[in-house]
Amino acid sequence: MSKTQFEHLFAPLQVGPMQVPNRICETTNTINSSMIPGEVDDNFIAHHGAKARGGVGWIGSETWLLNLPFPPDSPDEVGLSVGFAAHFAAYQNPPWVEGMKKFYEEVHAAGSVAIAQLTHLSSVWAPSAVPVIGAQDYVPHEMGEEEIEWCINSYADAAAVAKEIGADGVQIHCAHETLAYSFLSPVTNRRTDRWGGGAEERTRFPIAVLERVRERIGDSLALGIRISGKEFRQGGAEHLEMREMTCHIGDSGLIDFVDIDVGHCWGAPSYVPSSYYDHAEFREVGKAARTDLDENVSVLFSGRVNDPVVAERLLKEGYCDLIGMVRAGIADADFANKAREGRLSEIRRCISCTRCIDEASEPRTFPYAPTCSINPVIGHELRWEEEFKPAATPKRVVVVGAGLAGCEAARWAAMRGHQVTLLEQGERLGGQLRIAAKAPGRDDFEDQIYFEENEMVRLGVDLRLKTHADIDAIKALSPDAVAIATGSIPRVPHDLPGIDLPHVVQGWDVMQGKVSTGDRVAVVSQEDYYETPCIAEYLASKGKQVEVFHKSLHLGYEIARYSIAMVLAHMENCGVTVHPNLVLKEIDADGLEFLSSFGEKTYRKEGFDSVVLAYGSVPVHNLYDELKTDGSIPQVYVAGSAWLPRFMAEASQHGASIGLAI
Ligand SMILES: Cc1cc2nc3c(=O)[nH]c(=O)nc-3n(C[C@H](O)[C@H](O)[C@H](O)COP(=O)(O)O)c2cc1C
Ligand code: SF4
Repeated sequence: MSKTQFEHLFAPLQVGPMQVPNRICETTNTINSSMIPGEVDDNFIAHHGAKARGGVGWIGSETWLLNLPFPPDSPDEVGLSVGFAAHFAAYQNPPWVEGMKKFYEEVHAAGSVAIAQLTHLSSVWAPSAVPVIGAQDYVPHEMGEEEIEWCINSYADAAAVAKEIGADGVQIHCAHETLAYSFLSPVTNRRTDRWGGGAEERTRFPIAVLERVRERIGDSLALGIRISGKEFRQGGAEHLEMREMTCHIGDSGLIDFVDIDVGHCWGAPSYVPSSYYDHAEFREVGKAARTDLDENVSVLFSGRVNDPVVAERLLKEGYCDLIGMVRAGIADADFANKAREGRLSEIRRCISCTRCIDEASEPRTFPYAPTCSINPVIGHELRWEEEFKPAATPKRVVVVGAGLAGCEAARWAAMRGHQVTLLEQGERLGGQLRIAAKAPGRDDFEDQIYFEENEMVRLGVDLRLKTHADIDAIKALSPDAVAIATGSIPRVPHDLPGIDLPHVVQGWDVMQGKVSTGDRVAVVSQEDYYETPCIAEYLASKGKQVEVFHKSLHLGYEIARYSIAMVLAHMENCGVTVHPNLVLKEIDADGLEFLSSFGEKTYRKEGFDSVVLAYGSVPVHNLYDELKTDGSIPQVYVAGSAWLPRFMAEASQHGASIGLAI
């Protein structure tokens, strides 16, 4: 192997009987990449296989869900409201097993190892009749002895299938919102029989599962657990208690590895931490496990490690033996190879926006496909494989606007061999990303700007900053194709009395430093995603006293359950007060008049120095319209927000698709 600057990261590791080629792990991520429900199809294989081919040593792919069928005399899965409603346990479905076998062959062909994560969820049944996660409002069925026994056997049955089809390791999922986790947690395990009690007694269920699984798979496969180092829920296990339980499980002598993270799916942090958290912020749980456990038990730590430099340091400083880098691989399936070869500036680092997990848990697009804000290929690997071809005839391409859509259009067109000129009126590329990156906890968004800047140089795109583009300037470049990606501007509500008053400003302008506000600020919001919380927090970070008046049931109404708690906790911590369900009717010099979103009551609020608007944005496509009318340029496209202001992923995908079509 050629020499690499990341000597710890690329050192192989023996985990029980399994030789892991390097320390980079795709811990299990159920991003639902298969397009055929209940099967492992070519999309699945393309998606997770790309990471193996991209140099990731340990491939966890997607979880093996064991929940169903329930024992024959139990009712069906009615009420299983938190997703994952397959009507059978996947490992009992022959096409699924066949697909998984084929997938494992692919992983091995790439030189990586494959881990099967075995999961029982706990939404329908649990050790005690206590709701397991906040996202769920019903009380689960309390399991009896026979049901517990049935579950333990189902883990063993699934492990036997994993062994048969070529998995290198089996992981019992004891973290997040799983059944084994709910046996460990003092909140959800209130049993007074042998399955409940103190920390040691609560480990009996996972240990019983591990024993039964070992009986079936012997020593030929690595066996381990995924466990939380800290629950982050009210009344939940704190770090010391989790350490005690992890040690008990380790002392059983049954496991070869412990995969440790923190949080659950409804918390702050969730176990998919957003950019509000530091890189590897909870690394101490890895170090504690490494200190506590026998050296034969390898420790895998994960949680917001997006960069090989950070990963190398964690390994070098003894925080863990293996490092989870899931979203690093979603954002860039080739990041490991690029790191090994020293091509660091080519890595597209995950910006921890959490769109991938939000989309997987509560899809906003139909038909669903795995989604990443910055990697347009994810979820569409087969299409890109088929459609990405060098241009038959290189064309002169002009792209106007260097936001995400424009950059991706330019990048893909250039990769296909076109000669691309990118015109940007600002001093730097990035568009709206540059505004978002100014919000507290969003500086990672700069990473994508950095990536695009590097790519423009690498691909020889003629990037012209501080350049105004009009129809004559474009035509002077004699393009064969033009993509207009001129973005959007903040929406100004029409017919709203007082909207022109001098103390009324736009949130985008505030964040770009174009305008300033007084000390007491009313943020009036008509948008449901991150724009409003970012503006509010930006103002709070500047010492302003901020109140948000918002049209929906809560702020960030379109942010999914994995992420919303992190946003609302941030609002609480920075002292922003939120008033939901209010629509602005009028502004005057002394106050604001609101109407209830759902009723007829009006409310008056006074005492603000400034009113900041967050009303979403409207597209800017006049240049596109002019070029279409002119008709002299053969191919004219409109990309991203200039067509329809949506989110980052949609802008990246739209731009990239145009780069593919030219
Ligand atoms: C889309 C998605 C699905 C996930 N599904 C699972 C899962 O099924 N089981 C699991 O243990 N963790 C799951 N995770 C959590 C990841 O394994 C990982 O712990 C988390 O993404 C944090 O690591 P990262 O910062 O490297 O992404 C999922 C994460 C993502 C992004
Ligand atoms: S969607 Fe966001 S969090 Fe997920 S991999 Fe892409 S950049 Fe990272």
